[in-house]
Amino acid sequence: MRVIILGSAAGGGVPQWNCGCENCRDARAHGAGRTQSSVAVSADGERWILLNASPDVGAQIAARRALWPRGARGTPVQAVALTDGELDHTLGLALLREGTTPLPVYAPSSVAALLGDQWPLLRVLGAYAGVEPRLLPEGQAVALTDLAGAPLGISCTAAAVAHQPPRYAAAARAGSFAVGLRLVDERSGRALAYIPTAGAVDDAVRQIAAGSELLLFDGTFWSDGELRAAGVNAPTARAMGHLPVGGPGGGVALLPRLGAKRTALVHINNTNPILRRGGPERAEVEAAGLTVGEDGMEFEL
Ligand code: MLT
Ligand code: MN
Ligand code: ZN
Repeated sequence: MRVIILGSAAGGGVPQWNCGCENCRDARAHGAGRTQSSVAVSADGERWILLNASPDVGAQIAARRALWPRGARGTPVQAVALTDGELDHTLGLALLREGTTPLPVYAPSSVAALLGDQWPLLRVLGAYAGVEPRLLPEGQAVALTDLAGAPLGISCTAAAVAHQPPRYAAAARAGSFAVGLRLVDERSGRALAYIPTAGAVDDAVRQIAAGSELLLFDGTFWSDGELRAAGVNAPTARAMGHLPVGGPGGGVALLPRLGAKRTALVHINNTNPILRRGGPERAEVEAAGLTVGEDGMEFEL
């Protein structure tokens, strides 16, 4: 299975359009930005599945030859799988509307419900190429297929992880608003654990990550109070459903024990000090054997 981190940043990217923090200033000065959270996977190197569809999907496809069109019209992107209904993980679907056939979109029922109601993306896209919604039941492996039903060689199991509802659905009934995905290459049996948002390391996270070749995990914030310290009137990281990377009980302490062969942080917010090469937080992450995910990072599992 081939895995490409298309975008390693959280919502807003780096630099974020209205942010003058140290990391965003640095990214502007050096032209070294990060795009918003998405990953591409493929069993055969020809047909690809996007894990989340970011607002930067156009630039992400343009930057990766493997995702370029074959022929006059057409795309190797055969399906999308969503972990949640957040804008930074779904807006990209609107940007793929020029497709010539409906795009299969796998999502847990809670996320499909959000996209059919509070954030009516499915209805709007129905006027364009449209998407074909497909259910990702929790705790049950689904063999992913293209629009015609041909197997893509990867099975996917979703498990609900701790997370808050999206802000546009703050009043929604309690439920699971985010899942982690375990993607298994059906030929080799090797697994990718993809958990870009999670408020805790709990049983669901442990099950998805156990024995995986690669774990891509929520690296949004280093500390609970990070956004507020950056001058944004915002809740804590944990209250937003993001386990901080640093501190007691954070990712650096817990992730190395999950049994993944390799772990990289993704969905990294522009305020996160782990972005600063040579900084103490970055050193702590690397000393724990964790990798700070980068746009364009590729893995062969
Ligand atoms: C999140 O990851 O918590 C959301 O994307 C934040 C947001 O965009 O409001
Ligand atoms: Mn997000
Ligand atoms: Zn910033």
